[in-house]
Formats: sequence, structure tokens, C-alpha cells
Amino acid sequence: MAARPNTIWGNFLSPVVRFLMDEDKWRRYAQSIDWEKESDRFRRTDVIIPSYYNHQNFHGIEGGYLNSSAAVSYDPITEYALPPNETWVRQALIDAVKVQPRRILDLGCGTGSTTLMLKQAFPQADVIGLDLSPYMLIRAEDKAKIEGLDISWRHGNAETTSFPDASFDLVTASLLFHETPVVVCQTILQECFRLLVAGGQVLILDGSQKSLRQLDWLNDIFEEPYIREYAADSVDARMGAVGFEAVRTEEVWWIHQVSSGVKPIPVKDGTTQAKVRQHIPAIDNNNLEGLESPAFGITA
Ligand SMILES: C[S@@+](CC[C@H](N)C(=O)[O-])C[C@H]1O[C@@H](n2cnc3c(N)ncnc32)[C@H](O)[C@@H]1O
Repeated sequence: MAARPNTIWGNFLSPVVRFLMDEDKWRRYAQSIDWEKESDRFRRTDVIIPSYYNHQNFHGIEGGYLNSSAAVSYDPITEYALPPNETWVRQALIDAVKVQPRRILDLGCGTGSTTLMLKQAFPQADVIGLDLSPYMLIRAEDKAKIEGLDISWRHGNAETTSFPDASFDLVTASLLFHETPVVVCQTILQECFRLLVAGGQVLILDGSQKSLRQLDWLNDIFEEPYIREYAADSVDARMGAVGFEAVRTEEVWWIHQVSSGVKPIPVKDGTTQAKVRQHIPAIDNNNLEGLESPAFGITA
């Protein structure tokens, strides 16, 4: 876990996390995998890596996410980076789900911590986790196997996923937006809008923009290159700008937030209804049931 020196993370927090984590366990895990061979199972040649992504360090780890070290160290670091408790924070996203989803896409899924919780909460739903890093997907797949969860993992860019229009009832992203420039957040929200059925829901879990603005020093801790522009921005406003309705952001444990938006359902007089669609297969077959689902025929 190489950390940049002369930062709060490099000087103070990284040594503490190293002390708390079982480094031998993670070293053994890292050595047990042929990362290049396994990442080739996920890697898609049509995925173009954006420059904002591979020219930055994230979380003080040099080289970004396109390496095994990021995949191995992500969970032990994140456990301490989401106070007061990682599971409680992620649960806030699950609790905000208002649809009865049959198809869920988790963008920037990383090592799959939220994706696994989505599958556990909605076992009947088909769930896909998508990430730009095939190394993160190796770790995510491993965790799902251990939990006996059937989740599809897909190498891809959240800005342009190549899934067909209206493929999902629920699209989520946790801890993705503070790691992308705000123009990329906007493009991702546009993609969410395209991917959702009418009445479908988007949910974004991330740092509280309000608290990050008030506590600017927090932005220095984890060496996040885009966190200041994220803090100055508004996920609500960006959701509204791409057409989501019933947009609202709730603070979670003060330093996190969950933002929700609904893709409006067009009604006959040309207006829209900002109601989430309750997908109950027995009575609702006018939208998804007859729809081919190429999204779920895809293997990585
Ligand atoms: C901070 S991690 C969050 C991982 C996971 N969602 C979580 O909650 O722990 C950010 C993840 O987003 C991925 N990522 C960043 N930009 C992306 C993009 N444009 N498309 C897909 N994944 C992206 C990174 O590879 C990384 O795994």
C-alpha cells in the first residue's frame, strides 16, 4: 500500500490503518491470485479508459485503480474511511430504495460492497456491478462467491455503458461521484436517465456536499483529486438538469448523503408523473416483461 508522503494520509492515517489491518492476511490474499490472468477474464477491449481516471492517485495509493494493490487495499482502508460504520452508511442507500427492482445496475461498483448488499436486499433482482477497473472486479467477484450471491460483473465506463435504453429499474452509485470531475458526474447521470425505465430510480451515495463545504480541511485527508469540485457542486441540481424528478438529498451521519431521483412517467396529456414504479411482475407487464434483456445475456 504505497502512500504519498507529506500528506495527512501519508504521514498519519496510512500508518494507523496499516497497524489496524492484518497486512499478512492481505499479502497472502494478493499472492494467491494471478491478477493479470484473472483481469483478462473481465477486460473488454472496447472500454476506453478516460484520462481523468488513470492519471491520478486515489486514497493515497499511487497508480489509481488499475492495479491489484488498489483492489486488495480498498476494503481495509474503506472500513475506516466511512464513519461511524461502513455498513450503516451503505445501508442508507438500501433504505432509500423505493422501487421494487427487478434489474439493478451498480455503477463504479469497485470491490462490490454495496452491490452485495443490493443483491442481499433484493434477492429476486438481477444485479450487475460495473467498474472501469478489472482488478476491482476480481475482488468483487471473490466476495460475491464467498457470500453465495449471483451477481454479474462488467468491465465498463459509467459514462457510456452500452446497455440498451430502459434496461433497469434501479441504478446506483456509491462513493463514485467524489472521484470524478463534476462534468463526468453529469454525463453519468444522463446515462442513468437513459438506462432507467420510466418510474425507475437513481440513487447516489457519497460524501455530504454541505459538510464538505463547511469542513474544507476534510478534503485534504484522503488525497481525492476531485473532491473540492464535488463539494462545491450539487448532485440535486445535476439530477434536475438531466430530467429526474422528485429529487431529494438526505444527509447520512452528517458527513455522507444519499441523493434520489425518479425518471418521470409520461402521462397522456404530455405532462409527467414523478412516481416510482412498483414493479410487481404479476400485474405489471407493460414495460419490462416483454423487453428483451441483452443486459443480462452478457458475460464479462
Ligand atoms: C471509491 S471507489 C467506490 C467503489 C464502491 N462503489 C464502493 O462503494 O466502495 C470508486 C470506484 O469507481 C470506479 N470508477 C471511477 N470512474 C469510473 C467510471 N467512469 N466508470 C466506472 N467506474 C468508475 C473506480 O474504478 C472505483 O472502483
